[in-house]
This record gives sequence, C-alpha cells and structure tokens, in this order.
Amino acid sequence: MTLLSRDLTIGVVGAGVMGSGIAQVLAVAGYKTVCCDIDEQALTQGREHVTTGRYGLDRAVEREKLTSEEAASALSRLQFTTDLDLVAASDLVIEAVPENIDLKINIFRDLDQRAPQATILASNTSGLSINKIAAATSRPELVVGWHWASPAPVMALAEIIRTPTTSESTIATVSEVAQACGKNPVVVNDFPEVWGFVANRIYFAMIAEANQVVADGVATKDQVDQIMVDCFRWPAGPFGMVRGATKGWS
Ligand SMILES: NC(=O)c1ccc[n+]([C@@H]2O[C@H](COP(=O)([O-])OP(=O)(O)OC[C@H]3O[C@@H](n4cnc5c(N)ncnc54)[C@H](O)[C@@H]3O)[C@@H](O)[C@H]2O)c1
Repeated sequence: MTLLSRDLTIGVVGAGVMGSGIAQVLAVAGYKTVCCDIDEQALTQGREHVTTGRYGLDRAVEREKLTSEEAASALSRLQFTTDLDLVAASDLVIEAVPENIDLKINIFRDLDQRAPQATILASNTSGLSINKIAAATSRPELVVGWHWASPAPVMALAEIIRTPTTSESTIATVSEVAQACGKNPVVVNDFPEVWGFVANRIYFAMIAEANQVVADGVATKDQVDQIMVDCFRWPAGPFGMVRGATKGWS
C-alpha cells in the first residue's frame, strides 16, 4: 500500500498559518489528517482558518472550487489535537512550527522516538538545513524537506528538498502526495551553508537588489515594479510581491 491509498494518515505539527492550511489541503485531497499544536488557541484559530478563513472550505464552496459535500467530507477527515502521539502515529508527518533550528531539531528527535519505524518526517522549513534536522534522528533516509507557499490551499509550490541521505522512496512518496494535493513537486538539493533553497534564495536576492536600487536613488519603488513587470512579464514587481506575500494578494 502506498501513501496514495487515501486510507492512510498524515500528521501535521503546528496549526499556525502554514500548518492549518497544509492540513486543509491534505484533507481535501482525501487523506485522514491530524494536526497538533501545543497551544489550544492556535488550534481554535487553525480550525477557523480551515472552515471560515479567507482560503478555507466555506469560501471554496462559495467559489465553486468544492461542493458542500466535498467540504464536509474533508472536514470529517481532519482532526485537531494537542496530542503529539496522535500525529506521530501517522505514515507521514509534516512539521510546520516556527523557523527555529533548535525547536525543529527537538521536534524531529521527539517524533523519531514516538513514530513507527517507517514513518516519513518532512519539514516545511523556509530555509533551514534539512541535513541538520535529519542528523538529529535515527532515520535520516526518511527525512525530507517539503516547502509549501502561503496560502497553502492556493499556491502550487512543492519544493521537495533532499539531503545526501534521503532515500529515493521517500522522495517518490512525498512527491506523489504533493501531486495528489494538486501541487507541482520539484526536487532540489539541500545546501546547508546558506539559508533558503530555491524560491527564498532567489526571492530575497531580488528584494535586496530592488531595495539597493531605491537606496541608490536610481528609481522609486513604483518605478522598479513597473519596469520589472514591463520587462519580464512578472505578475508583480519586487515591492508588489512583498505586499502580496505579507498582506495577501488582492
Ligand atoms: N508563513 C509563511 O508564509 C510560510 C511559508 C512557507 C514556509 N513557512 C515556514 O513554515 C513554518 C511555520 O510557519 P507559520 O507561518 O505557519 O508559523 P506560525 O507561527 O503561524 O505557526 C507555528 C505554530 O507552531 C506551534 N508550535 C510551536 N511549538 C510547537 C510544538 N513544540 N509542537 C506543536 N506546535 C508548536 C505554534 O503554537 C504555532 O501555532 C516555519 O518554518 C516557516 O518558516 C512559512
């Protein structure tokens, strides 16, 4: 049985912006999903994001992306809990806690001790070393990066990050699940010396240069945006992208 047989369980650690969105996508794709957080209020908010949030199930029904039956069925597959053991018992666990290497290493150590031997452990880190996280476990071949973009229910990104020890079957399974979620998996290599993989390294380099152009008095922010849209057919310029990424796309 592969993870594509939708009877299997996927766990998500962290019910914040990313964790709740990821859990929603997995449940909509047909996976039994359990999402945990240490904070009861985060769990309540996470459930609200999934149901009544801007990218939640109610809006998806209003916009005819899902039928009300599909939304109800997805919700019935999704459980929120404070119990890490329920998440650790899954076949695949996706970690989405704050971007702090010590916190992530502790959680992976903990999951490694609690989870069945075959459980795959994935991190949604934006750019921390997957190799360092994998080295904290006794199963580095089952540790992989799976970087999502926000909002998870909308964005197609599935940056799958492999380390020298990640097994082919781990990559294949996670890529298949990403595809089943309607995402476009692209497998890239971990590079521990630098924060970020592909999307964030290039994004932040571009933002830094755009800021420098403005600081040098070459152009205003609006001019930079207009030039980049006109020259490269980008949907938004660098400053427009920052606005969209932080305040939502209109
Ligand atoms: N926000 C984004 O746009 C975005 C995009 C891609 C990747 N990421 C990455 O996703 C990860 C999560 O980001 P976020 O924006 O969802 O953060 P967030 O702060 O919204 O959510 C993190 C959640 O983790 C919970 N948490 C903390 N410690 C925990 C523990 N020990 N066990 C269980 N839950 C715990 C917190 O209570 C919180 O609810 C980060 O690594 C971030 O870099 C974020």
